[in-house]
Amino acid sequence: LQRRPFIAGNWKLNLDPKETSAHASKLREALQGQDIVDVAVFPTALSIPAAIVELRASGVLVGIQDAHYHAQGAFTGTNSFTMARTAGCAMGLIGHSERRSLFHDTNPITSLKIQSCLSSGLQPVLCVGETLEQRNNGAAVQIVQEQLRSALEGLEPDQLSSLILAYEPVWAIGTGVVATPDQAQDMHREIREWLSNNSPAHVSNQTRILYGGSVKPNNAGDLLRCKDIDGALVGGASLSVDAFNAIIQVASEFAGR
Ligand code: 13P
Repeated sequence: LQRRPFIAGNWKLNLDPKETSAHASKLREALQGQDIVDVAVFPTALSIPAAIVELRASGVLVGIQDAHYHAQGAFTGTNSFTMARTAGCAMGLIGHSERRSLFHDTNPITSLKIQSCLSSGLQPVLCVGETLEQRNNGAAVQIVQEQLRSALEGLEPDQLSSLILAYEPVWAIGTGVVATPDQAQDMHREIREWLSNNSPAHVSNQTRILYGGSVKPNNAGDLLRCKDIDGALVGGASLSVDAFNAIIQVASEFAGR
C-alpha cells in the first residue's frame, strides 16, 4: 500500500457498554506494539465512553457512527459531532448505506454532516456505494460520483485532504457476497480519478479509500493487494477481536509496498 493502511471496525448496533469494555480491552491487548496500520472503531454512541476508556493509550481511534449536523439544540434522540469530539472521539462515520436507506440520509443531508463533522474537528469517513439494481443498470460509477460530488461540494483542499473515503457496495454489506478484487479496484480507481479531477494532486494521491462489504480475514489479502485499496471498513468481522486483528495483520503485510 502506498498510503498508510487503515482498518476500521463499524460495530453498528452491537456491543453494549459492558461488552464494549471487554471487547476493547481484548483488542488493546491483541494490538500491543502494532504501529504499521491505523486502526479505528465505531461503537454505538452509548458505548463510546467505555471504548475510549479502554483504548485511550492504545493508538486505536474511536469514532461516532453518525450524528446530527447541528452541534446542539432541540433535536431529540440524536448526538452531535461536536459533543462526540468533547467525549473523546476522533472520527465520524458519515453516509453509511444503512443511514441512507433506513434513516433517509440523502446526499444533501450527508453533505451537511460532512461540514459539521469537519468544523467539529473530527475526521470524516465518508461512505459511498451503489445498490445491486444500480450496478445491474450500469449506473454504479455515476451513482458513486454523484454521492461524492454532492457530499464534498464546496470543501477547500485542506478539508478534502483530511477525509477518508469508504466504498461500500450496498449488495456486499452483511451479505457475505464480497466484491471481487477487480470490481472493488475498478471503483476505487474511479473514485481516485474523481478526486484528481476535483482537487489538487496531493489530495487524490494521499486520500485513503477503504473497501467495505463482507471483508473477512480470508478475503482481505486479495482486496488489499489492489493498488487503490488502502484499507477496509469492517462490519461483522470487527465483532470478533480475532478476526479483526487478523485483518489488521493482513493489512500490515501490504504496508509500504
Ligand atoms: P459487513 O462487513 O458486515 O458486510 O459490513 C460492512 C459495513 O457496513 C461496514 O460499514
